[in-house]
Amino acid sequence: MTIGICNDHAGLECKTALVEYLLKKGHTVVNFGTDSPESCDYPDFAHPLAGALQKGELDCGIAICGTGNGMAMTLNHCRGIRAGLAWNCAVAKLGKQHNDANVLAIPARLVS
Ligand code: RB5
Repeated sequence: MTIGICNDHAGLECKTALVEYLLKKGHTVVNFGTDSPESCDYPDFAHPLAGALQKGELDCGIAICGTGNGMAMTLNHCRGIRAGLAWNCAVAKLGKQHNDANVLAIPARLVS
C-alpha cells in the first residue's frame, strides 16, 4: 500500500518508529510530517496529507499528534477524509470496519 503519514512535534518519535515498521512490511510511505522536534502546528501537516488522499495519491493515511484529537479534528473537516482516533488495535480495526476510516489518528503521548 501507499500510506501517507503526518505528524507534529509530539508525534515525531512515533512517526519515526512507524515508518521503519511500515517500510519493513513492504509498504510505500509518503512523509507529510515534520522531522523536527521544534514545536509546530498540526494543521500544517494534516492538510497536505488530506490533499494527497483526496487526489487519490494514497491508499490511506496515518496522522499523529500528542492526543490525536488535533489531527483527527482537522482531517475530519476535509471532504472525503474519515479520520478515526485509535489507541489500540481493536479500536483501530473497528474504525475501519464500522466507520470506513481512511486515516488512523494516533495519540502519541498516550500510547506506548
Ligand atoms: C502539542 O503539544 C499538542 O497540543 C498536539 O500534539 C495535539 O495533542 C493536539 O491535539
